[in-house]
Amino acid sequence: MEKKAFVTKEQIEEIVKKYPTPFHIYDEKGIRANAQAVKDAFSWNKGYREYFAVKALPNPFIMKILKEYGVGSDCSSKTELMLAEKTGITGDNIMFSSNDTPAEEFEYAAKIGATINLDDFSHIAFLEKTLGKLPERLSLRYNPGGIVTVSNGIMDNPGDAKYGMTDDQLIEGYKILKSKGVKEFGLHAFLVSNTVTNDYYPMLAERLFKLAVKVKNETGVKINFINLSGGVGIAYKPEQTPNDIKIIGEGVRAAFEKILVPEGMEDTSIYTEMGRFMTGPYGMLITKVLHEKKIYKDYIGVDACAVNLMRPAIYGAYHHITVLGKENEPCDHKYDVTGSLCENNDKFAIDRMLPKINIGDYIAIHDTGAHGYAMGYNYNGKLKSAELLLKEDGSVQLIRRAEKPSDYFATLDCFPEYEDLSK
Ligand SMILES: Cc1ncc(COP(=O)(O)O)c(C=O)c1O
Repeated sequence: MEKKAFVTKEQIEEIVKKYPTPFHIYDEKGIRANAQAVKDAFSWNKGYREYFAVKALPNPFIMKILKEYGVGSDCSSKTELMLAEKTGITGDNIMFSSNDTPAEEFEYAAKIGATINLDDFSHIAFLEKTLGKLPERLSLRYNPGGIVTVSNGIMDNPGDAKYGMTDDQLIEGYKILKSKGVKEFGLHAFLVSNTVTNDYYPMLAERLFKLAVKVKNETGVKINFINLSGGVGIAYKPEQTPNDIKIIGEGVRAAFEKILVPEGMEDTSIYTEMGRFMTGPYGMLITKVLHEKKIYKDYIGVDACAVNLMRPAIYGAYHHITVLGKENEPCDHKYDVTGSLCENNDKFAIDRMLPKINIGDYIAIHDTGAHGYAMGYNYNGKLKSAELLLKEDGSVQLIRRAEKPSDYFATLDCFPEYEDLSK
């Protein structure tokens, strides 16, 4: 599918008068339409809820937009729990799917009434010890082990993943939960990441539904909610076909009707914890070309770097690039598009065919709406960028300011004179 930037060169030229590059910009219209499509796709399930994986885009303005579509928050740390709470997302609208969890974070989750999803069998006793008593609503995370294959050769290796518990631990776990007075039970699994196929959720649902039946038969515990977690992918590459959430929802429904309904489990709620699918395609990193360097290859140096978007550096991930204003020009130049970090993997693209680029051009790096800004860091003393929201009426709102040097120095109490440094 052709990948088009959701802003034009002219719009960016206006925006940079107020907000200099680099920045991430998010498309409110796209986020809303997609959130509605997700809601519609699972509307057949009475208790359906999407818990947006806050780690993907931890911004309260975005979380509030999603909240209008009934979307809660999936948090993985105390700070994310605090963010959800501050955003007005409370109680069982918060899922706490963490791992290797400190006691203090369980305490906080319990205090604010979040639903706790336990990553490990040993955490049952740890949680009981921490809280004095297990909460009445509790979820367990499953790891089937082995290798999972979906379709188109997409696969992952849960047997090598640190998350979740084994079949036997899970069965034993529900027995313990029941004996300790837990009243509402959840089952969760995340087997494959970024699946660009409509088959992943239906395949996972079928496995988890069968497991829920087994749990009922072997322990007498009736699972109240099944959490399909994240993993629904997006088409980062133009040659990929984007997932169709309607087809995915119908696939889950077919498995539900085949497996759970005949078992009298039609009141089971389906939950999801999507991050990437909710916001990924609706964000772009906008950066300006500073330099062109010709040595053994042709390098385009931009004013963003891996601090603003880490995925290409850590996974070699592909992010599509549009040179704004040159959408219709032939891609007849081969470039490495680089940032300024003293790391040779600080490259947004390698050997990418693009139109001829000039210094001063604006480049849109696509699909940065999830696991983009959020993964940022401060290596080389680089400061994190601003986040902007392109509103439905075409106006632009600053939803997070860019970091200043004073933010960098904020944790260095030995330099109090930097505390009020505003520039
Ligand atoms: C527990 C959990 N839930 C949900 C997600 C969201 O995954 P995705 O962005 O692929 O939908 C993640 C991602 O790391 C996760 O760890």
